[in-house]
Amino acid sequence: MASTELRKAAAPSDLRGRLAVVTGSTSGIGLALARELVSRGASVVVHGRAQERCELVARQLRTAAAADGQRVWALAADLSDLARVKTLAETLLREQNTIDLLFLNAGMSYAGYKGPSTSESSGLDILYTSNVLAPAMLASMLVPLLERSSLPGRVVFTSSVLEWGGNPDCLARPAAFTRTPKAELAAYADSKLALNVFAAELADRLRQRDSQIRVRVLAPGMVQSNIAVPLDQRTQRISSLDGPPAPEWRRFAPEQGARYTLSAAFVEDDMEHASDASSAQNGTTQHFLASFRVLAPYRTLDFLLRGREPFVLRTAALWVAENLQKLSSAAEDELYLWPAHAACLDAAFRAHLWAAWDAQLPISLLAE
Ligand SMILES: NC(=O)c1ccc[n+]([C@@H]2O[C@H](COP(=O)([O-])OP(=O)(O)OC[C@H]3O[C@@H](n4cnc5c(N)ncnc54)[C@H](OP(=O)(O)O)[C@@H]3O)[C@@H](O)[C@H]2O)c1
Repeated sequence: MASTELRKAAAPSDLRGRLAVVTGSTSGIGLALARELVSRGASVVVHGRAQERCELVARQLRTAAAADGQRVWALAADLSDLARVKTLAETLLREQNTIDLLFLNAGMSYAGYKGPSTSESSGLDILYTSNVLAPAMLASMLVPLLERSSLPGRVVFTSSVLEWGGNPDCLARPAAFTRTPKAELAAYADSKLALNVFAAELADRLRQRDSQIRVRVLAPGMVQSNIAVPLDQRTQRISSLDGPPAPEWRRFAPEQGARYTLSAAFVEDDMEHASDASSAQNGTTQHFLASFRVLAPYRTLDFLLRGREPFVLRTAALWVAENLQKLSSAAEDELYLWPAHAACLDAAFRAHLWAAWDAQLPISLLAE
């Protein structure tokens, strides 16, 4: 099997009777995704930081819900506080029988962030907790509900192509996720790399247990959203000496980001069966993990080619060059299997990180 594949996923237009949980559904991609899911008949759990905002969104969604038995819940939890994350998971475990689709979409960056960078209660870094530990904890705790789905259950982690610029050395050390202006994007990149490493390990552990749960990682591309504005300002200052201003390349509407996210959940892959030999090529493609890839819309390629992110481009250049022809003929709705960062491939490294997370999370993650 070739190491780079296009995947066209058709998410069912009828999701009646299905329950989707969307973290970070009060704005941006998550909000558009919640709307899309409701329009397809799914019941949805809306989540965000503040209960009032979740209720507001849930009320709007309820007026659009037309299917029999379709429900919309509002559940707030600040993901930078692990005690609240645990309560959120426990509430879902108590109140729901099944989760069919778990979209771990919520995420933050330090660009433009005005709050404290360390949690008062845990002393842990806010970004590390929100972007890595919280989704890790939710995915792990909600496995029993996902196992009950006849779909079967699907987990989509929303990551970023910036993971390519992540530094594996600091993944297990929250203190390394500093919010100094220079490190803002780097900390974000590190967090997304850590998320991917977790997802790769989770996928492996579930497979070892013969679980039917599908784990997918999506880099949604450059989407207009609340997270985008300060990130764009920061990115421009760091990396752009020429080319068009940021808003032009941040061109996906949240609805497009939502469609990619929904598609990612339904990408059926045969990548589990890819042999190691097929990914053991020279250069960037050797970073493919046979059973773990990152999904991304092909149009993100434009962003890489224009070199707006030199530190991503350095890693991506070879891969892009190798796959240029394929990429340029891809259709808009197609998702690409990107090479995951080398850290995602390294079983010993993943096991080491898993142990660190196990120690940090106030629950025991999936047993060996
Ligand atoms: N936009 C892009 O170009 C882009 C590119 C790559 C990856 N992503 C990823 O896509 C995901 C969605 O982001 P977006 O672009 O749609 O940004 P957004 O408009 O800022 O939405 C972020 C959502 O996450 C929630 N959230 C953030 N921190 C939280 C916390 N500590 N506790 C609870 N909820 C929290 C927000 O809730 P509140 O509104 O209640 O604060 C909001 O609903 C993120 O994981 C982001 O990293 C985005």
